[in-house]
Amino acid sequence: MAANGVRLSRRQADFEVESAGPWLLRLRTADDIFVKVADIHGVGRTKAGLPALGQAAGALDWPRAFGILRAVREIAERGTFDVVASVEGRPSYNRFAVEQSIGRAVAPVLGATFSERDGGARAGAESDFTVRAFVRDDRATIAVRLGARPLHRRAYKVSTGPGTLHPPVAAALAAIGAPATGRLLDPFCGDGTIGIEAALTHRRLTVLATDIDPLRVRNARQNAAQAGVDIQVRLADAATVTDSSAAVDAIITNPPWNQTVSPAGRMAASERGFWDVLAPVLGPDGIVCCVTDADLGVPAMMARHGWQLGLAQRIRLAGRVADVTLTAPPGRPVPGLLAGLAGWRREALAAGVVTDAGF
Ligand SMILES: C[S@@+](CC[C@H](N)C(=O)[O-])C[C@H]1O[C@@H](n2cnc3c(N)ncnc32)[C@H](O)[C@@H]1O
Repeated sequence: MAANGVRLSRRQADFEVESAGPWLLRLRTADDIFVKVADIHGVGRTKAGLPALGQAAGALDWPRAFGILRAVREIAERGTFDVVASVEGRPSYNRFAVEQSIGRAVAPVLGATFSERDGGARAGAESDFTVRAFVRDDRATIAVRLGARPLHRRAYKVSTGPGTLHPPVAAALAAIGAPATGRLLDPFCGDGTIGIEAALTHRRLTVLATDIDPLRVRNARQNAAQAGVDIQVRLADAATVTDSSAAVDAIITNPPWNQTVSPAGRMAASERGFWDVLAPVLGPDGIVCCVTDADLGVPAMMARHGWQLGLAQRIRLAGRVADVTLTAPPGRPVPGLLAGLAGWRREALAAGVVTDAGF
């Protein structure tokens, strides 16, 4: 189950696998995953080039791509499909024209029904598969989505509230901060995304998830049941969790940002940062890993309060800039990334995909 020839670029990683299988759909930190069919060159910037683009798409090696898809999941023989295009570089056509041209040309080749957009709405919500076209300047990369749905859309997230966390980001926080065993706390758990992703990654981890809002507590319980993970979910003000909880090895959390959700209860009145309030519950090697809105300036504030920063990385999240912080209380060793993650970070830095602090 190894990936070869990994090439990192902005917002994308290309790789080859010797043997495709359902394991590819468990890449929890990826937003989505596609089988590349081929690049088509000479697309041009005018509408006149679109019929040729469709023709070229129809002539690609689809049997190879579908062989890979069928190694991963079942697909109906003569099903329906939709096409989703993204277009960069200001051509005179739009994405809908690209989708129509490719969909209509490819349908007879695949023996499948093209589900066209209807007045801009997604026609293919229940498609059997999705063809993806990434058009950039003169080149179109044609691909097929490996899963039936985008990878970030988790089947377990049936109940959600405001500011719920994008699951691949929750999975990334778990990869950065969660130990394989021991105790993990998310004191602002919302719908439980972080605790659930951590529990799915580390089956022997004990996860405690708490929130001040009874609706979110109910959501988190329902989502955890859907995900088939056994996590403890309780109603609690984060400021009091430290009174009643045994020590934890990691706090991984997405505290309220004053954007969609504001701090409530004793946290609203507290002059102290959430990290200082929570510090007493950390065990001797305990760490905090969190994602916070960049406007809150959390990494700099924590550093000013003597916290040891192991990572302060800017990311884009829900249309805003956010900080991912890995840190330990004052006087403790600086927490590091696991060797595998540190290696990928070095490669991403070398490839110019991220900078030391941001993107
Ligand atoms: C950004 S949301 C967390 C979203 C969560 N990561 C998810 O995936 O759904 C912040 C959460 O903090 C909770 N909250 C606000 N003040 C709190 C407090 N004093 N104690 C505990 N939870 C609090 C809110 O109810 C909200 O669910």
